[in-house]
Amino acid sequence: TRNIKLAVIPGDGIGIEVVEQGLRVLEAVTANSGVTIDQTKFDLGAARWHRTGDTLTDEDLASIREHDAILLGAIGDPTVPSGVLERGLLLKLRFSLDQYVNLRPAKLYQGVKSPLANPGDIDFIVVREGTEGPYVGNGGAIRVGTPHEVANEVSVNTAFGVERVVRDAFTRAAARPAKHLTLVHKHNVLVHAGHLWRRTVEAVNAEFPDVTTDYLHVDAATIFLTTNPSRFDVIVTDNLFGDILTDQAAAIVGGIGLAASANINADRTAPSMFEPVHGSAPDIAGQGKADPTATVASVALLLDHLGLTNEAAKVEAAIAADLASRGDRVRSTTEVGSDLVALLRD
Ligand code: IPM
Ligand code: MN
Repeated sequence: TRNIKLAVIPGDGIGIEVVEQGLRVLEAVTANSGVTIDQTKFDLGAARWHRTGDTLTDEDLASIREHDAILLGAIGDPTVPSGVLERGLLLKLRFSLDQYVNLRPAKLYQGVKSPLANPGDIDFIVVREGTEGPYVGNGGAIRVGTPHEVANEVSVNTAFGVERVVRDAFTRAAARPAKHLTLVHKHNVLVHAGHLWRRTVEAVNAEFPDVTTDYLHVDAATIFLTTNPSRFDVIVTDNLFGDILTDQAAAIVGGIGLAASANINADRTAPSMFEPVHGSAPDIAGQGKADPTATVASVALLLDHLGLTNEAAKVEAAIAADLASRGDRVRSTTEVGSDLVALLRD
C-alpha cells in the first residue's frame, strides 16, 4: 500500500465546508485501491490569527513541508484587515513552497450553463506564474495619508522564474491535442517584463517545435474570452494577469463554484497545494450551501499530481456525471458531496 501524507488547511468560511466534502471524495476514491491517506489538519486562518496573532509560523511551515500534498479550502475573513491573511498565509505558502505553476483549468462541462450566448467548446488551461510579478511585495509607500503619498508595487520578473513557468506551460501544451500556447501580457506598455516574457516564449518554443504559439495583450484576451473562448488551449501569463483572467475563465464555464486550481512546485522540492479558486464567501458561510465541486475538482488535480491518474480520472468522471444531471436542482454542500461519493461507488 502507498501512504499519502496530506496536509489539510480548511481555512475560513466555506473553506471548512467544502474541504470536508473534498476529503469524503478523496477517501471514497482511494478506498480499496491500496492507497491510504494520512491527514494532518492545520489550524490556520482567521480564528487562529484572532487567538494568537499568528498567520503561518516557521513551525507550521516546517510541519507542512513534511507532507506529500496540501488541500486548502479558502483563506480570508472580513474581521481580519485586508492583506494580513492573504499575504501572511496564502501567498506565504505559495512562495515558501516555491509553487511556481498556478494551474487553473477552464472546461465547460455538459449540462453546465455558460453565461455566454455562444460559448462553443471551452476547454483550456491557464498556467499562471505563482511566485513573482506584482505579488512579491516589492514596493513600499511614503508620505502615507498625505496628498503627496507615493505607493509602489514593483512587479518582479526574473529570467529564471519566467523560463521555468513558460517551460512548464509548453510541456503541458505539447501533451494536449491542440498543442497551442498563448502568451498573455501587455508588452506595449510593460515593456521590460513584457519583452522578457516574449523572448522567453520564443526561445523555449525551439524545444517544442510541435507547439504553435500566439500572443495577446491582456485587454484583448478578455475580449476573446468572451467572444471566442474556444480559441484558447494553454494560456501562460504572469501572476496578476493570471489572477484576473482565471476569474473570468471560471465565470464563462459556470462560475467559481466549479473552478479548481493547483499550486504546483514542479521540481517537487516541496509539497504542491490544491485549492478551489473561490474565496471564503463569508456571506454564505456556515449555511451549507456552498458548491464543493471546485474543491472536489482540485482533489482530482491533487491525485493526478501524485501519479494516481486512475483515481483522478474517476473523480473527474463523477464530477462530469453529476454536472450533466444536476439541472436546476438546489442541493446542500453535503448533498453534492454525497452524490459524488455515490457516483464513485457505482
Ligand atoms: C486567488 C486569490 C488570491 C490571489 C488572493 C486571495 C491572495 O484571489 O487564489 O486567485 O490573488 O492569488
Ligand atoms: Mn483570484
